[in-house]
Amino acid sequence: MASLMLLLLHLLLIVSTASAWYSATYRFYGGSVIFSPHGRNSDGTYVVEVRNKQTSYYCNQNGYTCSSGNCGTQTHISHGQVSRNSYGFNWCEYEVVTTRKLTSNQPFQIRYPTYYSRRGNGYWISNVRSSLVAWRMTANVDLGTRSDTGESNKSPITAMLPALRVTRNCPRWFNITLFDPDGDRVRCRVPTSRASYECSLCGLTSSFSLDQKSCSIKYNGGTSIGIHPVELQVEDFPNTHITLSYTDGSYTTKRPLSVVRRKRAVTTITPATTSTTPATTTTTPATTTTWWCKLPLQFSVNVDGHYASSCLDGDYFPIFLSPTPSNGVNLLAYVNHTLEIKVKSMAQFTSIIDLIITGPRGISKQKISTGEYVIKWTPTENEVNDHFPICFVSEAKDRYNRVYQSEVRCVIADVGHHDTRVTCNETTITVEVEKNYLIRRNEDNLHLDKFTDSSCNLTLLSNTTHLVASMPLGSCGTHVEEDEDNIIFKNSITSADLRAVISRQHDVDIAFSCIYPKRTNLTLGFRHKNPYAFSEKGFGAFTFTFEFFQSQRFRNQIDANTYPVDVYLKQMMFMQIEATTSIPDTELFVESCKATPYDNPNSRISYTIIENGCVKDRTVQIYPGSSYQFRFGMEAFEFIGAHEEVYITCSVILCEANIPGTRCSQGCIRSGGHRSKREAVAQTSSHSISQGPLHLVKTTQTSGLSLNLGANMVFIVGSLLVCAVVIYRSRRSKAKYQPLPTSEMD
Ligand SMILES: *[C@@H]1O[C@H](CO)[C@@H](O)[C@H](O)[C@H]1NC(C)=O
Ligand SMILES: *[C@@H]1O[C@H](CO)[C@@H](O)[C@H](O)[C@H]1NC(C)=O
Ligand SMILES: *[C@@H]1O[C@H](CO)[C@@H](O)[C@H](O)[C@H]1NC(C)=O
Ligand SMILES: *[C@@H]1O[C@H](CO)[C@@H](O)[C@H](O)[C@H]1NC(C)=O
Ligand SMILES: *[C@@H]1O[C@H](CO)[C@@H](O)[C@H](O)[C@H]1NC(C)=O
Ligand SMILES: *[C@@H]1O[C@H](CO)[C@@H](O)[C@H](O)[C@H]1NC(C)=O
Repeated sequence: MASLMLLLLHLLLIVSTASAWYSATYRFYGGSVIFSPHGRNSDGTYVVEVRNKQTSYYCNQNGYTCSSGNCGTQTHISHGQVSRNSYGFNWCEYEVVTTRKLTSNQPFQIRYPTYYSRRGNGYWISNVRSSLVAWRMTANVDLGTRSDTGESNKSPITAMLPALRVTRNCPRWFNITLFDPDGDRVRCRVPTSRASYECSLCGLTSSFSLDQKSCSIKYNGGTSIGIHPVELQVEDFPNTHITLSYTDGSYTTKRPLSVVRRKRAVTTITPATTSTTPATTTTTPATTTTWWCKLPLQFSVNVDGHYASSCLDGDYFPIFLSPTPSNGVNLLAYVNHTLEIKVKSMAQFTSIIDLIITGPRGISKQKISTGEYVIKWTPTENEVNDHFPICFVSEAKDRYNRVYQSEVRCVIADVGHHDTRVTCNETTITVEVEKNYLIRRNEDNLHLDKFTDSSCNLTLLSNTTHLVASMPLGSCGTHVEEDEDNIIFKNSITSADLRAVISRQHDVDIAFSCIYPKRTNLTLGFRHKNPYAFSEKGFGAFTFTFEFFQSQRFRNQIDANTYPVDVYLKQMMFMQIEATTSIPDTELFVESCKATPYDNPNSRISYTIIENGCVKDRTVQIYPGSSYQFRFGMEAFEFIGAHEEVYITCSVILCEANIPGTRCSQGCIRSGGHRSKREAVAQTSSHSISQGPLHLVKTTQTSGLSLNLGANMVFIVGSLLVCAVVIYRSRRSKAKYQPLPTSEMD
């Protein structure tokens, strides 16, 4: 209610003070420009796409003029609405995409708007700075051929939601995502020169400040209720000296930002031969007339009039939860495939009412449940190799209809040409990923989830164009999950530094999975596994082996090549778990064992054999062995027959012998008993090891027929659902997880 009142007040203000002549309806809340080189035509002309967003009250647009250089001719234009409205705060963001044909790759400059009207078109929305001021934006486009990539210079990619709101008393950061496909360093700054058309208000209001290093705008809290316009200019700087060369034979040297700054000399970056530099002179070196990619990013922040009782994220302000992507990550999107971004948010004392999104044309959102949305976008052929920012903010309101917005997050969708191909058969997962620039950049660090085995090395099968990995199910760190209907095998290719304790800051993280329906009676080709090698601080390296044996003498183990192990109902099965360690006087303890239909210790279907160190199956026999061996036997049981295959999974611990209080010394603990805390070094943590599969030979219908049927079972690859989910982050991105408030949560 308060915010509605405020808006009404606002409108009144606009009408009464601004001018009866200049209405609010067509006024602007900001805008942005990104461009993208689209190659060359056969006649040698260049193609560039200019993507402009404008936000106005009424979904209107205003055009641009060519203010400098040769902007060529417009060959195509398309437009559409991409974002709209916050609760009780109306606006419309419109995207206009124009394609231009250029006779050369020399830089040019465009300016917005083209005209001003008394209905407000061409003016900023009435704001705390001014009730009537012209809206201005300038973009410099430089498509020169870079000496480092040999390709046209690309535009930095950046975006923001067009109209945001903050609660009066709560400081907030708006951390703007900056990305550069060329790997350039991107800087943002507050423009100060009206003369060069970069801004018309030029400067931030006192409640706002810019942290230039991270391009974050901070709302410091303040008293000026109403709209605060934010005008920014975004520029790219190479990391080393490069030259941009042009079709007319001229070239420019581009220098890294530090050099530019230190010298503060405009001349060092002046193109060798450009006669078309605009005539405007400026007072700051930042707004020099030299050619750069220089792009406007403008938006409005409304300071709502109410005070929040708590500024903590998660109380009144929604907080993002997993699997919401972190701010600044890159997501891979494929032509004709819908990119789906799941966003989940919650707040304790307010209800989530909306997810406000912006992105390329065609973007949409779907509400799944309260606080859960899916953002969808399907790129087309025209968008291949381009980068599209997608931003979102979660909006909540309290019972007085006062609005609270979450932090803003933006991700970059990188549109790829080819799908990542994942091929699944009953023994192997094969994944093929076309190398893109991010993969190439991280190539030396890429690995599967676990690669201690040299057969898991990605360099083995990869070639110059593709990353290729092929792994047996259950190897190379592949882990198993299951749901009602499927068994799911998951792994990923990441560039996470394995030495780092927390590996959240992956540069590349390509997750893939194979999904096998349970309904088809397939025999998944797990290999006999052994040994299990672990290493723990204070305990060093140790291994476990898990084997089936032919008799209680434990002399002959069942040959690994004959797996699955055929057993008959009620036949005794003999198993041995053995530990090997360099530490003397150790004992092995088997905490639990169960039978599961898949090689997944967390399988929801299981039969308990040993639990908390206590034998649960009455047929179990324990046989003597050394302190680092556990030998046991049990009758093959019906459970095996109910499933195509069965694995025995045990949780094991290694302890220093004769130390009181270790788990090993405690033995069987009946439920209700107390477990003692793990001693510092006296014991390892629990490790899950498994062996199998076991296969029950059905003696009741002993005919070769049924066995043959089993052996000849047709495996239908086509019936497998195969998912390839690819998520990768850019080099600079930092995972920005916020802890959930731990107090008062139920
Ligand atoms: C936003 O940027 C500021 C300044 O760099 C930083 O202190 C803050 O933690 C960032 N916020 C988030 C949510 O990442
Ligand atoms: C995408 O779909 C369009 C129209 O259906 C089709 O012409 C095009 O070939 C498809 N592109 C790819 C890469 O599948
Ligand atoms: C499964 O795929 C792998 C790798 O492509 C191949 O070597 C193997 O022969 C396949 N197995 C079957 C049964 O088709
Ligand atoms: C993979 O193999 C390559 C070349 O054989 C080697 O340089 C690299 O160190 C290996 N990577 C790992 C993680 O073992
Ligand atoms: C590289 O591997 C991919 C995927 O297996 C294959 O399609 C492509 O032909 C290979 N390219 C070369 C040059 O060998
Ligand atoms: C799988 O096997 C079970 C028992 O052998 C049988 O009843 C069922 O029809 C089979 N399902 C399929 C899809 O073949």
